[in-house]
Formats: sequence, structure tokens, C-alpha cells
Amino acid sequence: MEKDSTSSHLTHYPTHHHTTTHPLTVIQPPSSPLPTPMFTLPQNATYCVTGGTSGIGLEVARLLLLSAPPCRVLIVARRSRELEMTVAMLAQECDAEDRVLGVPADVSTPPGRAAVSRAVEEAFGGKLTGLVNNVGCNVRKAALEQTGGEYDAMVATNMSSTYFLSKLLSPFLFERARGDIANGSVVVNVSSMAGVYSSGTGAVYGMTKAAVNSLTRSLACEWSKGGGTTENYRRFSFSLR
Ligand SMILES: NC(=O)c1ccc[n+]([C@@H]2O[C@H](COP(=O)([O-])OP(=O)(O)OC[C@H]3O[C@@H](n4cnc5c(N)ncnc54)[C@H](OP(=O)(O)O)[C@@H]3O)[C@@H](O)[C@H]2O)c1
Repeated sequence: MEKDSTSSHLTHYPTHHHTTTHPLTVIQPPSSPLPTPMFTLPQNATYCVTGGTSGIGLEVARLLLLSAPPCRVLIVARRSRELEMTVAMLAQECDAEDRVLGVPADVSTPPGRAAVSRAVEEAFGGKLTGLVNNVGCNVRKAALEQTGGEYDAMVATNMSSTYFLSKLLSPFLFERARGDIANGSVVVNVSSMAGVYSSGTGAVYGMTKAAVNSLTRSLACEWSKGGGTTENYRRFSFSLR
């Protein structure tokens, strides 16, 4: 378990501003009625999505909030302003004012991960249905041009964040799984085909994503009751039951 002394920055952002003009409004708010929910979720489900202010993480958060029955979602990103605007946007779009929260944190660092852990405990009473380890970065360069600093940043952001945050939040995932045997809880690690073959996006990025794939297989076996399955491996996600 990682330790540090950073205080919690869990914020329940107001939803009455920045909802129409900010640059993160990539997809326009849906017209009423809301779209048909994408997923059927467990009752009272809680999710933590890292990197939830843009790209894949934002869409995952949006789909969860539009699904049924209603769940609660905590999104994580470093930039407070973007986080605040995204929480406000999702709250409005998804009719989720009391169900979406944000915590500003850098998950590539121990203090950042500890802040996320405190936020999950505070917001969800220490019970987490799903962790989506989505944060990732790439400095696209040939191996001979890659600097040590770039290497360290990619390893910390793509690989270490996934390993350490999964461990840190595992008590909350196990607690939820114990209380909901039928559905369990789930960890989803966002990887890349670059972790399976050389896709031309850089050796270090590929290395870190291959490590994420391997970590997913290992944790599926260690944490899934009865062990992980081939299907779990293929999807690079696994359920705790
Ligand atoms: N896009 C693709 O084509 C593609 C393809 C294959 C796999 N992937 C993988 O999919 C995942 C998401 O990619 P994306 O392109 O959707 O990402 P993106 O649009 O670049 O968004 C990155 C998100 O992560 C946050 N973030 C970045 N570093 C962070 C950190 N250290 N701590 C906390 N938050 C952090 C960013 O907000 P802040 O900057 O405010 O922190 C932002 O919300 C990554 O793991 C990526 O490797 C992407």
C-alpha cells in the first residue's frame, strides 16, 4: 500500500456554469429524451475513470452515466479547470448532477494516487464497482531519439499508474464484490495494439502497453475468484467476484 500525506481534493463541482461555451463540448448535449442506456449496471454501482476529461475516458464516463440503473462516477485528471468543466458538462448532458464527481490528481505519482483513493473512500463510502485505468501518454519518437525523461514519464503514466492504483483501490473493489456477490466488481485497463505488435508508435509506448496486458492477466488470476479466464485476457479486463 502506498503512503503519502497529500490532502484530499474531492470536489463536487457546481453544474450551473461553463456548460455551453467551453471547448470540451465535443458532443452536443442530447435532445430530450436521453438516449437509450448502453449498459445494464448493477444497482448502486460506483466507478472511477482515470483520464476522464477527454478521449476514451470521457466517453466511458458518459456511457456509464447514461446507463441504467443510475450509477455514480468519479473522474480523474490533472487540470482542475478542465475537470470542473467536464463534470459540469456531464452533469447536464446525462442528467447526473448528484452522480458525477471529479478529483484533480496526477495518477503517475504516489500523492496523486493517494488523493484518488481518499476521494473514492469519501465519495463512495469505500465501495468501488469499477476502476477504469485509462490514463496514458505517448511521446512518438524512434527509440534512438527517446530521452530518459520521456521514457520515465511513459513508464510512470502508462504502467506504474495502472499497477499502483489497482493495488491502492483493491480494498474498495473487494469490499464492493463481497457485498454484491452476483455482480462482483471490475478492473478495466485501457491498453493498445501497440502492446501486442510493433505499430510504429514507439518502442517505449509499446513496452508499457505490453506490461499493462501482462499485469491484467496476472491480476485476473490473482484477484478473480477461481482465476481469470481466456476471455478476460482477451478483453484485458477482469471481474472480481
Ligand atoms: N487515442 C488513441 O488513438 C489510442 C489508441 C490506443 C490506445 N489508447 C489509449 O487509450 C487511453 C486514452 O487515450 P486518449 O487518446 O483517449 O487520451 P487523451 O484524449 O489524451 O486524454 C487523456 C486524459 O488523461 C488525463 N491524464 C493524462 N495524464 C494524466 C495523469 N498523469 N494523471 C491524471 N490524468 C491524466 C488527461 O487530462 P489532464 O491532461 O488534465 O491530466 C485526459 O483527461 C490511453 O491509455 C491511450 O494509451 C489511445
